[in-house]
This record gives sequence, structure tokens and C-alpha cells, in this order.
Amino acid sequence: MEQELRRAKIAGVGSFAPENVMTNNDLEEIVDTDAEWIISRTGIKERRIVEEEVVTSDLACQAAKAALESADLEVKDLDLILVATSTPDYLGLPSTACILQDKLGAEGVPAFDLAAACTGFIYGVSVATQYIETGAYDNILVVGAETLSKILNWDDRGTCILFGDGAGAVVLQPTQSAGILSNSLGADGSKGEVLRVPAGGSKRPFSQGVLEEGAHYLEMDGNPVFKFAVRILGKAAKEALDQVGLSSEDIDYLIPHQANIRIIDAARKRLDLTEEQIYVNLDRYGNTSAASVPLALDEAVREGKIKEGDTVVLVGFGAGLTWGATVIEWS
Ligand code: UT7
Repeated sequence: MEQELRRAKIAGVGSFAPENVMTNNDLEEIVDTDAEWIISRTGIKERRIVEEEVVTSDLACQAAKAALESADLEVKDLDLILVATSTPDYLGLPSTACILQDKLGAEGVPAFDLAAACTGFIYGVSVATQYIETGAYDNILVVGAETLSKILNWDDRGTCILFGDGAGAVVLQPTQSAGILSNSLGADGSKGEVLRVPAGGSKRPFSQGVLEEGAHYLEMDGNPVFKFAVRILGKAAKEALDQVGLSSEDIDYLIPHQANIRIIDAARKRLDLTEEQIYVNLDRYGNTSAASVPLALDEAVREGKIKEGDTVVLVGFGAGLTWGATVIEWS
């Protein structure tokens, strides 16, 4: 007997960003920088920053509720919760996914965190796709959520101007047509040092020295990350397309990780796409790491940029180093 095709589709999408806006001019008051430099070198005009008492699971919860509503589902329908984050509520345990499960009231639903930095959401979609295709679960919530402002060194102009806080979420469900066509993931752990939080983990646990050095803050060698990103975005997208016999000519719409407009422009040129085919909101949010792709996807869907039947590619890169892409026939 022929087995029925079982694919995953994005049945709902939602996002949330804190209200508090920090502009480039605000940053000039905090650190030795220049608003015009930030715009011309990154494309970022402002970012959202959480109040001190707000944690990652709070943002995740808002985005998750919006995604459930858009999928016309209730919390009780969920079978699995995945949270991609580099800024969990707690270091290691309990997971932010478990805290989110409790905040949503999704009693008993399995939940776990996934760490792939800015590529985390795409890794999460890939994991969820496998669970759906094998028939293990039907309704999976995948969230990318970050409060990066909490791990930034506000004296380091090479990093603090880039990042912001936010969350995005999707609900994946089974379908017999269209939906997620392919996921392609990659990693190069040998280059992990270029983007890291040096202390607070088992390699260098917290101590007075860590605190005095500020080694618990995010550190980055911007230039190698930039070069890697320019090369990998186009390559990752092409690999995922190639898996299903498609090429960059087949792309209707691209949702890239929102890190730097120059990186996005380089990818656009490599894929031979027009500006109208790419969603950009980093001018308003900065780089929100694992939240960036679902936050952009949600806005693109709500603005009607993506139509039924479109071939949509999600593509990202991040610390690890990691990269990944998802090809979707939108339905
Ligand atoms: O999700 C993944 C996360 N990371 C990324 O995607 C980041 C990838 N990297 C980048 O986006 C870029 O490397 C940066 C935006 C971080 C830096 O841009 P750049 O064009 O590579 O600048 P640079 O580091 O080569 O610095 C150029 C100049 C330097 O001055 P001098 O030495 O030429 O006098 C810097 O000191 O710009 C200076 N500079 C700044 N000036 C004002 C660096 N940061 C700033 C700043 N404000 N915030």
C-alpha cells in the first residue's frame, strides 16, 4: 500500500517586540559611537530593549500566543514546544521552553531548548519538521526569543549597537501538499571563538574575576563573522533549494537573518534577487538573533508580501558557527 505524503507546514506565525525603543542617537549618549556610522555600516536605526524585570520567556509567551491565534489553535492542542535562544531565563536549567510551557498553561506538553544562536529558529523548524514527517507529533510550537540586551557590554561599541530584544514563533502542522520542502543545516565548530560569551559556563564558571573582567558578556570579532556571513547566506539557500531540485531563480521571497544590511545585500546579489523579494526590518529591530527570522516572517505575512503558492526561503547564520535554510511552498 502506498504511504500518504506527510509534510510539515507553517499553520500560524506570530511575533512580539518590547515597546521600549533605543535609537542610534540614544546610543551616542551611552557609548563612543556615531548614529550615522551605525546606519551606514549596519542599516540599523533603532532596536527594542526590554525593561529590567522582563525575561526571554515573557517575550516567547507573547509571540507563542500570537502564533497559536494565527493557526486558530488552542494551547491544549500543542504536542511539543521548542525554544531557540542564546539568552535563556536561566543558565542551563530549567529550560526556557519549560518556563514557557508553564506560562502558556500547556501542562504535560514536552518542551526543550535548542542552541544554535542566530540560526536557532531554523534549526528548530528543521527538528519540528522531522517530528511531523515521521508522524510523532501534529502541532508543534517553535519559538525564537531573545533578550540580548542582558548579555551586552554597553561599553563595547563593536557589539552593543548591533543587537536587540524580541521574539517570533510559528506553529507547524502536518499537510499532504506544499509546506516545508527542505531544510539544510550546517556548522563549523572550529570557528566558534569569533562570537562567544567567554564565561558563565563550565569552561569558566562565574567568579569575582569574571565579573570584574566582564567576561560574562557577548564578545565578537566582527570582521571574520561578516566575511563568513556574506559567503554562507547564499550558499545555504542554494543547498536547501538544490535538495528539492530548485534553484535561486525559483525563489519568490527570501527571509534572511537580520544582522547587517550589507550582508543581506551581498546575499541578494549572489541569489540574483530584487530588493522587493527580500524582507528587511533590521532598521527597526537590529539583530535579534534567534528571533530575527520569525519576527521578519510574521511581519512579511501580515503585510501581504507572501502569497499562496510562493516559494519562500528562510536563511540564517550565527555563532557556532552555524547556518541553515528552509524552503517552503507557502500554503
Ligand atoms: O548574528 C550574527 C552576529 N554578527 C554579525 O552579523 C556581525 C558581522 N559583522 C559586522 O556586521 C561588521 O563587522 C560590524 C558592523 C560589526 C563592524 O563593521 P565594519 O565595517 O567591519 O567595521 P570595522 O570593525 O572594520 O571598523 C571600522 C572602523 C574602525 O575605526 P578605524 O580603526 O578604521 O579608525 C572602528 O573602530 O569603525 C570603527 N567602529 C565604530 N565607529 C563608530 C567600529 N564600531 C563602531 C561604532 N561606532 N559602533
